[in-house]
Amino acid sequence: MKIAVIGTGWVGLTTAAVFAYLGNEVMGYDINEKLVRQLQSGTVPFFEPYLEEFVRRELAARRLNFTTDPATALASAEVIFIAVGTPPTADGCAVDMSFVSCAAIAIGENLKPGKFRVVVNKSTVPVGSNGWVESFIHQGLEKQGNMGAVDFAVASNPEFLREGSAIADSLYPDRVVIGAVDERAMQTLTELYRPILEQDFTPPPSLPRPAGLKKVPLVKVNPVTAELIKYAANAFLATKISFINEIANICDLIGANVKDVALGIGLDHRIGCAFLNAGVGWGGSCFPKDLMALIREAEGYGYDAKLLKAVCEVNASQRLVVVRKLQEVLKTVRGKIIGILGLAFKPNTDDLRGAPSLDIIRRLVELGAVVRVCDPVAVQRCRENLRELPIHFCTNIHEAAEGADALVLVTEWQEFVTADWEEIFSVMRTPVVIDGRNALNKKFLEDLGFVYRGVGI
Ligand SMILES: NC(=O)c1ccc[n+]([C@@H]2O[C@H](COP(=O)([O-])OP(=O)(O)OC[C@H]3O[C@@H](n4cnc5c(N)ncnc54)[C@H](O)[C@@H]3O)[C@@H](O)[C@H]2O)c1
Repeated sequence: MKIAVIGTGWVGLTTAAVFAYLGNEVMGYDINEKLVRQLQSGTVPFFEPYLEEFVRRELAARRLNFTTDPATALASAEVIFIAVGTPPTADGCAVDMSFVSCAAIAIGENLKPGKFRVVVNKSTVPVGSNGWVESFIHQGLEKQGNMGAVDFAVASNPEFLREGSAIADSLYPDRVVIGAVDERAMQTLTELYRPILEQDFTPPPSLPRPAGLKKVPLVKVNPVTAELIKYAANAFLATKISFINEIANICDLIGANVKDVALGIGLDHRIGCAFLNAGVGWGGSCFPKDLMALIREAEGYGYDAKLLKAVCEVNASQRLVVVRKLQEVLKTVRGKIIGILGLAFKPNTDDLRGAPSLDIIRRLVELGAVVRVCDPVAVQRCRENLRELPIHFCTNIHEAAEGADALVLVTEWQEFVTADWEEIFSVMRTPVVIDGRNALNKKFLEDLGFVYRGVGI
């Protein structure tokens, strides 16, 4: 099929590369000229494993290309994905839908009469946005004088990929959700996703198909339900994390071990072990804004989403649990050298949006600590985000540890977990480790002589 993808960030670029890999002809369109130039030359300017390899291969195979011209992108497309950002507004209280409305107007201005087209909303949007997008497309069509002459339908196809495993999540998803009223739109999208649903494509050598994966379920619903599924999925995952963090705080008080509690409850099939890792809480580009959006959505109908609000409150306070632990051990942190290990909101990404590290660093600076930071890939983005703060950027854990009073693990990158802790012990001023992800070996570190504090262990 001929596909256009509007917005070539994490979601759009992954979608474009994966559908090209599956044999479709894909044109990525973005308003960011620099990004498009980089993509045209095969460079992906953010860190996502395998994505650059995919983009290069599909560019070479001429199944994938990029443009800043919406008319070129839409000229022959049968399916048009909207994958632009939906960040929170500046006051953090609503979803900024301006990128989606601009994309929808651009679609309306450039769609020409002829064949039937499906416009697919892949961006995470407030419930009811399907009809709203359609109205902006009509606005664009009206502008070009083609109102009524263009046959199209809008569908919702929420994205569940995780940064750090975006390609694998797209090739081997747990489910595909399609929300459409128009039967032709449902059929077109079912056909487009058929290789993924049937799992009958040849897997890329670098990302083999998970053992036992035979078929992927398709959830066919109406657009409003599809939109709510996305918000509900993120709200549930965030709830699981906040839940285990609350249990971890109780463990700390009563002397139980949250890792064992998580195992003990997670082995119950009704609960499951995933997303039960206690620590500094959730972040990222999606959970914070999506929970806020769902709470606002409910408020719009006069419903007070008390549970979801509590999930956010627990998370906000959990971010600073490592600062409280530092104060317990060091008493004052003023003037103390604290090394922050990990900046990205999780390993295998350089995305800092909503990262707990940012709140932790700001709080430590407020308290007068001398803050050093290191991360295998996110340091450059952190420099841009925290320009105003007097923090020291280190190239590796050893540089952060030299003469430090404490190290705080905030992102569980493998290279921190497997670092030479014996050598690190020998260069620190006071050997204190606060493990904000419960990822380090407590006994091993304590045997080396470290003062170790995890979260709920
Ligand atoms: N990042 C994730 O892990 C993830 C996962 C699932 C869903 N989502 C959702 O997917 C959507 C996209 O997220 P992302 O992380 O890929 O965002 P992103 O910020 O990485 O990328 C968005 C891209 O859209 C481009 N853009 C903005 N307005 C445009 C326009 N009018 N026309 C063309 N291009 C335009 C931007 O230049 C940017 O390159 C969001 O709604 C997000 O909530 C993200």
